[in-house]
Amino acid sequence: MRVIHTVGARPNFMKLAPVYRALSARGVRQTVVHTGQHYGGLMSEGILKDLELPEPDVNLGVGSGTHARQTSLVMMAFEEQLLLERPDLVLVYGDVNSTLAATLAAAKLGIPVGHVEAGLRSGDRSMPEEINRLVTDRLSTWLFTPSRDGDTNLISEGVDASSIHFVGNVMIDTLERLLLRADGEAPLRALNLMNGLGPLPFVLVTLHRPSNVDDAESLARLMAALEAIASHLPVIFPVHPRTLARLERFGIQHERTTLLDPLTYVPFLGLQRHATVVVTDSGGIQEETTYLGVPCLTMRESTERPVTVTEGTNLVLGRDTARLEREVLGILDGQRKIGRIPDLWDGHAGDRIGEILA
Ligand code: UD1
Repeated sequence: MRVIHTVGARPNFMKLAPVYRALSARGVRQTVVHTGQHYGGLMSEGILKDLELPEPDVNLGVGSGTHARQTSLVMMAFEEQLLLERPDLVLVYGDVNSTLAATLAAAKLGIPVGHVEAGLRSGDRSMPEEINRLVTDRLSTWLFTPSRDGDTNLISEGVDASSIHFVGNVMIDTLERLLLRADGEAPLRALNLMNGLGPLPFVLVTLHRPSNVDDAESLARLMAALEAIASHLPVIFPVHPRTLARLERFGIQHERTTLLDPLTYVPFLGLQRHATVVVTDSGGIQEETTYLGVPCLTMRESTERPVTVTEGTNLVLGRDTARLEREVLGILDGQRKIGRIPDLWDGHAGDRIGEILA
């Protein structure tokens, strides 16, 4: 069997790693194609290095652009790659534009697609990722779901149950594997967040969704809330390039919040596990905090990962920045949500995929 894995953006790499290892162990011939949607040391190379993945075999170098431009550039370049290699299967990950583009190109050439992280739905089509999820799942032959709600969503959309495989969460495979290395000591010390007794309380923030950061008023309100919280405890905010560009363009100031460059996987995980609370609009971080038992406040109207709310430590706050401040202070006061780890988030999801495909 000959497999092409397609990845492009930061959250894809953590999902690729366990599947790549599982297929290597089974002697499958594999090519990794990086579309180049994310690029540079902090968004791409540094993360691949942290994950101990080999350099991608091919980089299509598409870079940034509008949705249609980025998607079509990946489609054109990836189609050439497919014609050259004629794989038996294309594996795609998550819900980014590269996922959609690779799926379209492969499906049109009649090459089967396997979608890792299938079935997730927010119900909100104003999110580009929701459109990517819907189309990718529709065109995929193998649907690997991370949680039972994924199966339910796919069944309700008319997908044949024999295509759906509940394998668990591949992100958690990576987290479990690297948790020992991610003790957080180096970043905590660099940020003066350690004393003789251990880590000090702090808030960890990531925000990059267009709905939060592309609108000047939303971003200003979020930043004002973070500034208010930072008068109680340190607020650490590694800033995604999209967000940094918007903060600069809108002239939004900050005094107390600590803004950092994006962090690679291991130092970020090290901070996450010791955070008092995480404030985010990411998908993957809702899952990682649930696994780690760290309270998570999600600044979005909906989540495609409801299991992090029903079983985990996540609360979805919408745009309510006043509630954000209240919840953080409540958590500081000891009122934290206690969760459990969802089924099959056990470090073996990649192996299950390997077993099914082999
Ligand atoms: C993409 C994904 C999103 C995912 C996020 C993780 C889509 C539709 N969105 O959003 O689901 O949560 O990645 O980070 O695929 N930029 C850089 N360097 C980079 C990448 C981006 O400077 O390596 C800047 C560029 O200004 C670019 C902007 O960020 O225009 C947005 O990048 P893009 O890849 O379009 O989307 P993300 O916001 O990163």
